[in-house]
Amino acid sequence: MNNSEAFDQIVKTRRAVRKYHPADYNPIAVTNSLERAQLAPSSSNMQLWEMYRVSTPEKIKEVSFCCLGQNTTETAKEIIVVVARPDLWRQRAEANLNHVKNVHGDRPSFRGQSALKYYSKLMPLLYNNDFFGFRGLMKKIFVTIAGFKRPMVRQVTGTDMRIVVHKSAALAAQTFMLSMSAEGHDTCPVEGMDSKRLKQLLNLPRKAEINMVISCGKRIPEGIYGDRFRIPLSEMVKQVD
Ligand SMILES: Cc1cc2nc3c(=O)[nH]c(=O)nc-3n(C[C@H](O)[C@H](O)[C@H](O)COP(=O)(O)O)c2cc1C
Repeated sequence: MNNSEAFDQIVKTRRAVRKYHPADYNPIAVTNSLERAQLAPSSSNMQLWEMYRVSTPEKIKEVSFCCLGQNTTETAKEIIVVVARPDLWRQRAEANLNHVKNVHGDRPSFRGQSALKYYSKLMPLLYNNDFFGFRGLMKKIFVTIAGFKRPMVRQVTGTDMRIVVHKSAALAAQTFMLSMSAEGHDTCPVEGMDSKRLKQLLNLPRKAEINMVISCGKRIPEGIYGDRFRIPLSEMVKQVD
């Protein structure tokens, strides 16, 4: 089987599974998949997400309670909580800055200098937003005016940046789920939950946001609720000429 055939099989095998086998399970699948999820792309390589691995039956029960007792979390062998961490932008920008310095040394090339500016100036400008949204409003006005003359990034407010962070977290989540499928295991993404309770349970800081919960296990036949339904591709994919 070549790579594209193997990938096709992984994508087609992945289903949202709502009931898992009570015993058949290998936690190595999760360990491997977390390592692969880390390789997912992230906006500006800021990597503003965390994954909380919930493995004991007692904690799974507590997380499942926050997920409204859904079958998929009730029967899960492990649960991953994907958390968006926009509040960690300083640490992540600093880590990237140190990485650039290590790579480029004392006399950075033009590309090195741009990268240094990117993480020391642009990232703080985008991510440093105040509670009342005043800075975001100022930035929005600036890009709107400047945008009349040339292309500008328009996503500059605090809310915009939260969306940016959630996008990257979701890409890591999807990489995790596809990897689980490749490992012969199953998952279900879950957003039907009480995010406030879940945040309290995991002791997360105020600005952390639950991106999604992923239940993990191996499917039983009743765990698939029906055939796949998709809107015709012709309605979803638009050719641009
Ligand atoms: C962000 C997100 C949140 C979801 N939340 C839930 C959920 O709370 N409970 C659930 O049973 N399924 C949930 N799903 C699973 C979807 O219902 C499922 O992916 C969709 O019906 C397509 O089925 P398939 O994944 O088997 O192809 C969620 C999926 C996504 C992407």
